[in-house]
Amino acid sequence: ESIVPGELHDPAMRAASAVPEPGAVTIVVPTFNESANIRELLRRITESVPPRLPCEVVFVDDSTDDTPDVIRDAARDCPYPVTVLHRESPVGGLGGAVVEGIRAATSDWIVVMDGDLQHPPSLVPELVAAGERAPAGLVVASRYIEGGSREGLAGGYRVAVSRGATWLTKTLFPRRLRGISDPMSGFFAIRRSAVTADVLKPLGYKILLEMAVRARPRQVTEVPFVFQDRFAGESKSSAQEGIRFLRHLAGLRTASPAARMVVFGLIGATGFLPNLAALWALTTAGTHYLPAEIIANQFGVAWNFLLIEHLCFRDRRQHRHWWDRAGRFALLANADLVLRIPLIALLVGRFGMDALTATALALVTTFVLRFAGTEALVYLP
Ligand code: GDD
Ligand code: MN
Repeated sequence: ESIVPGELHDPAMRAASAVPEPGAVTIVVPTFNESANIRELLRRITESVPPRLPCEVVFVDDSTDDTPDVIRDAARDCPYPVTVLHRESPVGGLGGAVVEGIRAATSDWIVVMDGDLQHPPSLVPELVAAGERAPAGLVVASRYIEGGSREGLAGGYRVAVSRGATWLTKTLFPRRLRGISDPMSGFFAIRRSAVTADVLKPLGYKILLEMAVRARPRQVTEVPFVFQDRFAGESKSSAQEGIRFLRHLAGLRTASPAARMVVFGLIGATGFLPNLAALWALTTAGTHYLPAEIIANQFGVAWNFLLIEHLCFRDRRQHRHWWDRAGRFALLANADLVLRIPLIALLVGRFGMDALTATALALVTTFVLRFAGTEALVYLP
């Protein structure tokens, strides 16, 4: 991707802030067509951040309108250095933009906030102060602790979706999100030494979640805030963003081999549904049950393949064509079936095991082999 750094309001000040000062803060603001909010945002930041707190503002912009020009223009009236990184070919959406901003930040503290004033700039100094006090690596501005609320989340529908998403996320990552009541918040402060941007694989809106799960900052603290109404314009979120969020969750949840194996097994267990359905259809249509078994098994395999592709190995599909992956996957799945019976026979005949133990052992063995085979032969080069 190409990044065009914008002009700095005051290069001398920017140079001065290039050495991280304790307590200095870089405010990172992702923007997508927010021209009507920029002036007010910079005005309110100026009003809120005391002059003694060294501050710079980095906009990471994916706009298709004149937002970058508006930022450069408004920067002239701002006492802090203001940078615009305009991304010509945006990757990762909002989260990708935030990570670019974190990479560009030069201060000890980075505060990430939206550009539409739903996050009150008056809270910026408080977030940093809370982090210094704790001391913490991550300070989350939360709508869900005492003193916080989500006034700006208009409509029962959005509130319900937000609640459901928060619940699902907290359930999927109970350990990593301990102490974070609002993992969906887009307003937070991080100590630069607490995150390595290289471990992040941002995908869409939930960059705090990405950070908490993958970068795992050690000490976390929270500050309540009231989610405001948008100042101007409309939310850039969409149903597509919702799908992206589910993909993001799946990617995070299957990041470790152990977690992938569990998901792999759960998906495998659901394969009996299409398998039985196909068997029923085929035998009802008069097919002999033996060929019907074999054909029905392929329905289970296809179902498993689709789910596994999307829920287990989504970001590891680049090495082969989809038909190559499907073929290898089907081969492994059928080999599993063919291998199991002789293996059980061997365990019973040679090692004197009872049939039940032998079957259980064979099931576990072929499952582990199939998982390892899928990892190594389908999703690795
Ligand atoms: N650079 C960039 N690229 N910025 C983006 C993009 C993008 O693809 N999409 C959105 N933004 C910017 C917007 O311009 C705005 O400044 C900020 O990100 C938030 O976008 P909104 O569209 O206003 O988000 P929202 O209000 O629906 O959601 C916010 O609140 C949620 C909590 O309810 C975000 O902060 C979410 O992360 C948060 O979960
Ligand atoms: Mn918003």
